[in-house]
Amino acid sequence: MQLYNRSITDSDRFWSEQAKSLLHWSRPFERVCQGNFADGDVAWFTGGTLNAAYNCVDRHLPHRAHQTALIYEGDELGEGYSLTYHQLHARVCRVANALLSMGVRRGDVVTLYMPTSPDLACAMLACARIGATHSVVFAGFSAGALRDRLAASGSRMLLTCDVGKRGGKTLELKKIVDEAVGGTDLVHHVGVFRRDPDAAQQRSEGWEESRDVDMNELLPRMRPYCAYVSMEAEDPLFILYTSGSTGKPKGLVHTTGGYLLQAAMTTKNTFDLKDGDVFGCVADVGWITGHTYCIYGPLLLGATSVLFESTPRYPHHGRYWDLIDRHRITQFYTSPTAIRTLMKFGTDKIKEYKLDSLRVLGSVGEPINPEAWTWYFKNVGHSRCTVVDTWWQTETGGHMMAPMPGMTPLKPGSCTLPVYGVQPALLDPLTGEEIEGDDVEGLLVVKRPWPGMARTIHGDHHRYMDVYFNSYRGYYATGDGARRDENGYYWITGRVDDVVNVAGHRIGTAEVESSLASHDGVSEAAVVGFPDPSKGQGLCCYVTLNMGTPSTPEFIAELKAQVRRDIGPFATPDVIVITPDLPKTRSGKIMRRILRKLAEGEPSALGDTSTLADPSVVERLVATQFWVK
Ligand code: PRX
Repeated sequence: MQLYNRSITDSDRFWSEQAKSLLHWSRPFERVCQGNFADGDVAWFTGGTLNAAYNCVDRHLPHRAHQTALIYEGDELGEGYSLTYHQLHARVCRVANALLSMGVRRGDVVTLYMPTSPDLACAMLACARIGATHSVVFAGFSAGALRDRLAASGSRMLLTCDVGKRGGKTLELKKIVDEAVGGTDLVHHVGVFRRDPDAAQQRSEGWEESRDVDMNELLPRMRPYCAYVSMEAEDPLFILYTSGSTGKPKGLVHTTGGYLLQAAMTTKNTFDLKDGDVFGCVADVGWITGHTYCIYGPLLLGATSVLFESTPRYPHHGRYWDLIDRHRITQFYTSPTAIRTLMKFGTDKIKEYKLDSLRVLGSVGEPINPEAWTWYFKNVGHSRCTVVDTWWQTETGGHMMAPMPGMTPLKPGSCTLPVYGVQPALLDPLTGEEIEGDDVEGLLVVKRPWPGMARTIHGDHHRYMDVYFNSYRGYYATGDGARRDENGYYWITGRVDDVVNVAGHRIGTAEVESSLASHDGVSEAAVVGFPDPSKGQGLCCYVTLNMGTPSTPEFIAELKAQVRRDIGPFATPDVIVITPDLPKTRSGKIMRRILRKLAEGEPSALGDTSTLADPSVVERLVATQFWVK
């Protein structure tokens, strides 16, 4: 508590000490923090230079060259390999040299469309080494979504794998890439890592000699050393796209100094990371959790990090427990959705495993209900591990609220208290005034800059200001609602904007709407979230059809397929309701509040419907009782 208070009252000194103790600076910084939210010009550690790959790899070589840096577990049980820090260093350097040989230079954006694997880790660190900005696109995104992100980031270089494997299924990543970039002049080169060494002969299909580069052939020819570039603290380290409440994905830009510090400090404090720990974050590296807690955080601290490519239920629902025992994982980090899914199987399977290496259990991505928290604590942690519910966002770079093991008393379902340097507040949505005191609820905002915050939206600083800073001047608006209880503990209540959190995947309803509306048969679409016992939320899509379009089950299946194609399988609608009309105000605005209540199965709680242009639209929807099906 004392240190937390100091991190707020004497913030420059606090952060300066943290930055010096956790990171290696090639040139010391001159100022700690400057700028503010209202002007959108926050900068940390200016004057300082550093390199992310040096900090994650090179500086550990004198003591940890032969310690395992990455343990990779592929899709099949036990399939995979490990890399020591020494081996990681050589691989990162080879990939960096390969990128240089293909013309990538400092400041260029390199898109990585790859499954969770050491190849992806090396590609990220290789970009960082030469001062290129990586933009990882989750390998579950469709060709269209990949193309949009490539174009938006201005990336001329793409790295991918021939295939990805998840849950026994093969994802044809190279084919998706061909579909995304074929016939366009978006990229100059596509570097392809081959998973299957025998696949060299098969590469003819879709292979373009002038564009495609076989990384398995190129890398052995590259030198295993590549000089690193000292980057300014505020130089971008990566772009990561996330969904917002309007259709276009936002490319959040994270910088080198501040992001790395947030990653290192929170990994250390929230997970009580110690020498010799084996850190098991089972998120996909394609999302922010994987960036910060599979790659940057653990490697900055010289830990051993597990990269897991499969799913919790493949080949059986004991997969996580097997992973923990086999690799002697000390910190395990997963999502409430995964816990709830595994809870359904009872405890017979989990009892076959020891799970005695574990010390800290993390949860991230969505609110964890107290039942799931307690199940996790008792059955995975054997009532002796700390459960850390970590609240944060792609925008924040690292944890914002989370307990500290052994220090923060826990409450199942609460992300407890802010981490060092973070000062949250709750606002009244109508007045924008801060709500003081405890036992209150409001919009969750942050009052002061923190090092890991995204500095802009790539190519659209106006949007960055509008989304995060302009509605409540002087605050960062998180888009979440929260309650502060009688002890000052925070409980996240969920998004307050048009973003739905499906199984920890953040999906902008506008993106799904525009995919549906682009179908010839569809006139209009409105998408809302509804509670789902295992995924947290599901997607309910209301669709009006053009004249002559049949509302058959086949057509509904076609619409679902369209969304899968446009965005990716994780955004597949759960329910599609065909309706002759959407409930609108007299000025033509869709009343989503009503659609949300109906999707929740609460037709008696629609609230004020007097502003509806045509109340019969709602009456007809209510009469169908679609939510019962
Ligand atoms: O609504 C919050 C929810 O996930 C959103 C951020 O999503 P994304 O940027 O994809 O990052 C996910 C991983 C950090 C937040 O606005 N969220 C995340 N963690 C929690 C959470 N909701 C409740 N409790 C959490 N621990």
